[in-house]
Amino acid sequence: MTQEKQKKGLPTSVLLALAVVVTAVIVGVAAYYLFGQAPKPQANLLEIYHWWTSGGEKAAIDALVAVFQKKYPDVGVIQSPVAGGAGYVFKSVMKSMVAAGEAPDAFQVHAGYEMKPYVDAGFLEPIDDLWRQEGWESVFPPVVRDMVSWGGHYYAVPVNIHRANVLWYNKKILDQYGIDPSTLETWDGFFAACEKLRAAGIQYPIAMGGIGKWEIAHVIEQIFVSQGVDFYQDLVNGKLNDPNDPRLVNAFNIMKKYMNYVNPDYASLTWDQAVAKVIRGEAAFTIMGDWANGEFYVAGKQFGVDYGAMPSPGTKGIYVLVVDCFEKPKGAKHPENSIRWLRVVGSREGQDAFNPIKGSISARLDADVTKYGPYQRAAIQDFKTAKYMVPSIVHGSGAPEKFASAFNDIASKFAADRDVAAACKAIIDAINAAKSDYTKTWHLTG
Ligand code: GAL
Repeated sequence: MTQEKQKKGLPTSVLLALAVVVTAVIVGVAAYYLFGQAPKPQANLLEIYHWWTSGGEKAAIDALVAVFQKKYPDVGVIQSPVAGGAGYVFKSVMKSMVAAGEAPDAFQVHAGYEMKPYVDAGFLEPIDDLWRQEGWESVFPPVVRDMVSWGGHYYAVPVNIHRANVLWYNKKILDQYGIDPSTLETWDGFFAACEKLRAAGIQYPIAMGGIGKWEIAHVIEQIFVSQGVDFYQDLVNGKLNDPNDPRLVNAFNIMKKYMNYVNPDYASLTWDQAVAKVIRGEAAFTIMGDWANGEFYVAGKQFGVDYGAMPSPGTKGIYVLVVDCFEKPKGAKHPENSIRWLRVVGSREGQDAFNPIKGSISARLDADVTKYGPYQRAAIQDFKTAKYMVPSIVHGSGAPEKFASAFNDIASKFAADRDVAAACKAIIDAINAAKSDYTKTWHLTG
C-alpha cells in the first residue's frame, strides 16, 4: 500500500529539492567539461616521485605523463619532484619514505646497484607477469634487462638509455677559433684546444657544475673510462687494489689538468647551469650525460649549427650507460595505477614521447626513429655499433652505493685540493670499505 501511494506522486517539496540537486549535478558536470576545475575523485590517483626539474627534464616527464593521461583520463596524476640533479637530494628522501611505509605508486630509480637495497629489503614487487604480458623481453636489449633483474626476477621498467660519456661543445666558438672537433678525441688534443681558447681570451673554456658533488665525479668517471675498459671493469668489480696503479694515477692527473680550465665557481653551480654557460657561449665545453641535449632543445638551439656532441676524449666506441626506471613498490596506495603507469613507461608510445625531449634514446629496440632529433639519431646508431657498453657508477648502476657515494666526496675534495696521491689512495680505501657489497661481476670486455 504505502509503496503504491508513493508511486502515485511525491510531495511538491521533495520534487523541488530533487530538481535543485539534479540542476546542481548538471551545472557541476558542465563546469568540469568547460573549465576542467572539478576535482578528480580522490581515490583514483597516481602519485609518482622523480628528480626531473631542469627545463629539459620537466618538459620530458610532462610529455610522458600526457601519454598516461590520454589513456587514463579519470586518473589524477600527482608528480612530486625533488630538485637536485642525478637525484642527489631525492635518493635519501625516497629511502626514508619507503622505509617508513610511505612509498608512492612509483619512483625514479637507476637500473643496477641503486635498486638493490630496495630489492634486498623486500620493498619492491617482482613484476615478471607484467614483463611477460607486455612482451618486453623481446624489445629491451639484454644489457638493460640484466640491469633491472635480481635473483631471476624483474623489478623495474626502464624508460630510457642515457649516455654519460659525452663532450658537448659550442659549435660557433669552435668554428670561430678554427678548432676541428676530431682533434678532441684525445686528451692531448682536447687540452690543446683549451689552451688555444684561453690564449684567445676565453679564460675558462670548460663549464662544470659541482653543487651536488656528482657533477665532478661524472667527469672523473669518463676519464676513468678513457683509461681502458679493462681498467673500468676492475673498478666496477671492486678489483683495483693498488693506489699506484698507473691508470688510476694518470686519470687523476688528467683531471688535475682539466680543473685548470674549469669555471672557478663550479662548486655553486648545477649541471644545467654549466650547460647554460655553453649555450650562452661563455664556455666552449662541458662533459655531461646526454640529458644536456634536453637543455639545448628547450633553449631552441640546433644540433650541428649551434652546438655539437661527441664521445668524451678517449671513449670512442664506448657507451657509458645510464638507465632510469620506475617500479612497483610494495604497499603502493594505488596498485592498479602503479601498474598502468609502468605499462605506459615501457610502451613504445610513452618512450617515443619522453626520450626525444629528454636527450636519451628509447630503451626499446623498436623506437620510431623519425620522432628523434639529429643528436639522438646518431646516438641510436652509436648504441647499435658500440664496441663496449659500460655501466655508470655515478648514476647508480656500476658499483655499490657505498662506493658511489664515497666517490662523490673524493671527487669534490680532489677538485679543491688536486692532491693526486690522496685521491688514488681514497679510491682504493673506498673499494675496500665496500668490499662485501660487490655482488655483481661485470663482464664488459666480452
Ligand atoms: C641522471 C638521470 C638523468 C638526468 C640526470 C640529471 O642521474 O639518470 O635522467 O635526470 O641525472 O638530473
